Amino acid sequence: MTDKSILANKFDVDAIRKDFPILNREVNGQHLVYLDNAATSQTPQQVIDVIVDYYHRYNANIHRGVHTLSQEATDAYEVARQKIQKHFNIAHSYEVIFTSGTTHGINLVATGFTSFLKKGDEIMVSAMEHHSNIVPWQMLCERTGATLKVIPMNLNGELIMEEYHKLLNDRTKLVFCNHVSNALGTVNPIEEIIDAAHKVGAAVLIDGAQAAAHIKPDLQALDVDFYTVSAHKMCGPTGVGILYGKEEWLNKLPPYQGGGEMIAEVTFEKTTYADLPHKFEAGTPNICGGIAFGAALDYMNHIGFEAIAQYEEELMQYATEQLLTIEGLQIYGTAKHKTSVISFNIDGVHPYDIGTILDKLGIAVRTGHHCAQPIMDFYKIPGTVRASFSFYNTQEEVNKLVEGVKRARNMLL
Ligand code: ALA
Repeated sequence: MTDKSILANKFDVDAIRKDFPILNREVNGQHLVYLDNAATSQTPQQVIDVIVDYYHRYNANIHRGVHTLSQEATDAYEVARQKIQKHFNIAHSYEVIFTSGTTHGINLVATGFTSFLKKGDEIMVSAMEHHSNIVPWQMLCERTGATLKVIPMNLNGELIMEEYHKLLNDRTKLVFCNHVSNALGTVNPIEEIIDAAHKVGAAVLIDGAQAAAHIKPDLQALDVDFYTVSAHKMCGPTGVGILYGKEEWLNKLPPYQGGGEMIAEVTFEKTTYADLPHKFEAGTPNICGGIAFGAALDYMNHIGFEAIAQYEEELMQYATEQLLTIEGLQIYGTAKHKTSVISFNIDGVHPYDIGTILDKLGIAVRTGHHCAQPIMDFYKIPGTVRASFSFYNTQEEVNKLVEGVKRARNMLL
């Protein structure tokens, strides 16, 4: 990474944008305005270079060969694991399990808890979860007879914490909540959620998919039991992420998948399992992806998470103010603590139609239910238009979004 990409003590967004080749492309004859960062973020040249270098120089399988390429790939993969450990302040690198992404991490835990739960036990999710943090727990309830409870939210898109405290009891075994809502941008009070759950002896899984690009969580300080992340939301490639689990939990959980890499010894009579983290890493992993995830963390840390958070906060405030000048526009998700997501609709207009017109103008947003149908049901809407921001977006792009939405409104009403 070149130092020229970030000017000392100053958030130089123009310099940062030069790191992202895709931001120069045109869409429908217009300069791309990419505002779908909550779905996936863009990849800087520094990370692309790491991916190309891997396939140019040392593509090989890991933990298997004595040959030089295999050792180089193994070393780079394990260095990436250590970078992730350091970034999230995790006590041991073997508590970092490489996954294909957040959904994989959640399913690994949900499947693993099957033998720990019984009829009468309760598990809890929040009202603002992504489907990936609802469906695996419903499947777990079907397997075990446990009951799923829901922490309700208010119209601002904030969890009603008094209700959460009332729902907790000695039957509660697990609590799941996202750190940041993908559909509303709410930053949830996860410290309070974790502390209260632990007081009744429940374990907590926090879905960090939407948070980790904006907030640098200290997982030891949080004392969370599980935390999941996807690399592609934070300048890394798709198809790779991590599940953090406390050592004691990872030792208790059974393996998720059987295969190569996760065994100590195999006979037809009995197989014993490898130590952490390999027990949960069956098969050839996304080696290049893991290494590139490490490079993405290097890139973001070089910019600095405090600077990113401050810049994105200002950009979101500006975008909120400007969007609210449009007649009939309503924002869903007005929590006191929120980050980088603005979900909105215009009275009398379907979100899909706004998204389609914006695309014609080169502006990428997501429309629909954002894999969070219960939130849409709560607001009694079919979906929203969602603009989601990253540190490489600019005020000028926000202005284009606002002009585009105005134009769409005039065309559709
Ligand atoms: N979970 C991703 C989103 O919110 C895909 O768009």
